[in-house]
Amino acid sequence: MAIVSSSFNTSFPRKPKREERLVDPVPISEEIKPKKDDSLRPNRWNEFIGQSELKEVLSISVKAALSRKEALDHVLLYGPPGLGKTTMALVLANELGVKCRITSAPALERPRDIMGLLLNLEPNQLLFIDEIHRLTKVAEELLYPALEDFKLDLTVGKGTTARTREIDLPSFTLVGATTRPASISSPLRDRFGITQRLHFYNLDELQMIVKRAADLFGLLLNNEASFEIARRCRGTPRIANRLLRRVRDYATVQSNQKIIGKALVDDSLRLHQVDDRGLDQSDRRLLLFIINNHDGGPVGLDTLAAALGEETATLETVVEPFLLQIGFLKRTPRGRVVTSLAIDHLTSQKEKIIDKK
Ligand SMILES: Nc1ncnc2c1ncn2[C@@H]1O[C@H](COP(=O)(O)OP(=O)(O)O)[C@@H](O)[C@H]1O
Ligand SMILES: [Mg+2]
Repeated sequence: MAIVSSSFNTSFPRKPKREERLVDPVPISEEIKPKKDDSLRPNRWNEFIGQSELKEVLSISVKAALSRKEALDHVLLYGPPGLGKTTMALVLANELGVKCRITSAPALERPRDIMGLLLNLEPNQLLFIDEIHRLTKVAEELLYPALEDFKLDLTVGKGTTARTREIDLPSFTLVGATTRPASISSPLRDRFGITQRLHFYNLDELQMIVKRAADLFGLLLNNEASFEIARRCRGTPRIANRLLRRVRDYATVQSNQKIIGKALVDDSLRLHQVDDRGLDQSDRRLLLFIINNHDGGPVGLDTLAAALGEETATLETVVEPFLLQIGFLKRTPRGRVVTSLAIDHLTSQKEKIIDKK
């Protein structure tokens, strides 16, 4: 495909350092520690903005579980990072009035990790396992009877004297979250009674999220400024909150105005190399590589990952979903293709954003 524009130079931006990125390069891999973001996390349905279909489905099941005094059915939440999967698990626990135990699959590598977790559950408790697609086979097999019949099969003894003992567990709710639903084994997937996808947020919802966070920070932002952050956060609340923090830093140091306006948002986001559509260095590297080195594509995912020095999983789950969503990138059977929309956009941003070399 001959869509290369001579206006692009042949190099592409260097790989950004982790701390420079606004989008998480790798999913969280340990037991989740309380993060800075926690102060902004919604706790109840009414604070959780958007995702109306998800909220409707879950609120009906929560009401039913409460009225029957049973544990809520197991829930699988999937979608790109930062859209509210962990938050929703915490909201569910609050709405059900139960405790929430948070862990992630890589922390459950040894059989005794998952056994310990299950044996310490309290009745109707909510157990949240992040990155559930990364559970080991052994962990999954221990989980199946627990999910289905609230039982744990323990093997006692070794060799010919080995026997299995069945232990009763209290009823509980597993909430699993993943950015890669296709990587979940089908027996595990089948054990979730409710499976829901989280979608990118629309501009109105994002602006509400920005305004809510600004209120919590005690920041005064005018309408244009909150809209500008909403427009540039890639449809993702976590990024909206992060951009707002950068704007707050900038305002603290560079401005003595009481109310933050669009100009200040523009200046601070330019400093962080976030362009008008919210693209950052990682996005531009990917698009420019395909344009400059492969005539706009198609390029296979493995080639892209190798050239950009990223994991294929990171490209697939973190960088690509938003580019696909806004029509800048297409997935074809022969590989990734950059669209003319992306080329027009990059051309329009050329003067504004200069990536660090
Ligand atoms: N629906 C929402 N309304 C308001 N803020 C949200 C919403 N969803 C997510 N957030 C904010 O975004 C941050 C990231 O959400 P999180 O649940 O950690 O995403 P995920 O688990 O899908 O990666 C949260 O700390 C919260 O502040
Ligand atoms: Mg999460």
